[in-house]
Amino acid sequence: MRLLQITSLALLGAVAFAQQFKNPNNLGPDMPTPQPVVEMMLKAAKVKPGEVVYDLGCGDGRIVITAAQEYDAKGVGIEMSRDIFDKTEARVKSLGLQDKVQIIHGNALHVDLSPADVVTLYLLTSSNERLKPSLAKLHPGARVVSHDFQIRGWVPTSVQKVTVMGMVHTVYLYEIKPKG
Ligand SMILES: C[S@@+](CC[C@H](N)C(=O)[O-])C[C@H]1O[C@@H](n2cnc3c(N)ncnc32)[C@H](O)[C@@H]1O
Repeated sequence: MRLLQITSLALLGAVAFAQQFKNPNNLGPDMPTPQPVVEMMLKAAKVKPGEVVYDLGCGDGRIVITAAQEYDAKGVGIEMSRDIFDKTEARVKSLGLQDKVQIIHGNALHVDLSPADVVTLYLLTSSNERLKPSLAKLHPGARVVSHDFQIRGWVPTSVQKVTVMGMVHTVYLYEIKPKG
């Protein structure tokens, strides 16, 4: 099992590494977070009604959609791939969630995160590193939840593990502390 997990993470890293040669803005390949892990991420972040949840590299939008449907939160998904963005935007419309979920076609590296109460990530550690300047601007009390990949130099408030289809997934929760 452990070997399977290591192989899968290595594969994710290899695909992303190869893609970065093609596009230096690519922070991670199209690999969705399994739904039980999505549930665990949002639970760990203690999302409250009306809070704003950003998913950087939102893929099919499952995290922001679940935040809106199950926590009555507002979701903002940022997606760089035009193809994925089109499908995800259509999915949000088909679910009638346009008032609660906004999908933005853009680069997560250039997004102002000041409105965010919660930021979710399923990107490589090296990508999280590149996002640190934006994450550092989050307001005190905001939370960052990362699937499988740590934010180097930040101390997590909690680290939880869940096994899905024989694979162990890790959820890192970080809380932005008041300055000073
Ligand atoms: C590993 S998937 C995660 C999808 C979703 N967050 C989830 O957990 O199910 C990474 C996603 O990030 C997108 N992506 C990669 N680089 C990006 C960037 N610079 N800005 C926005 N999206 C990006 C990819 O197209 C892909 O859909």
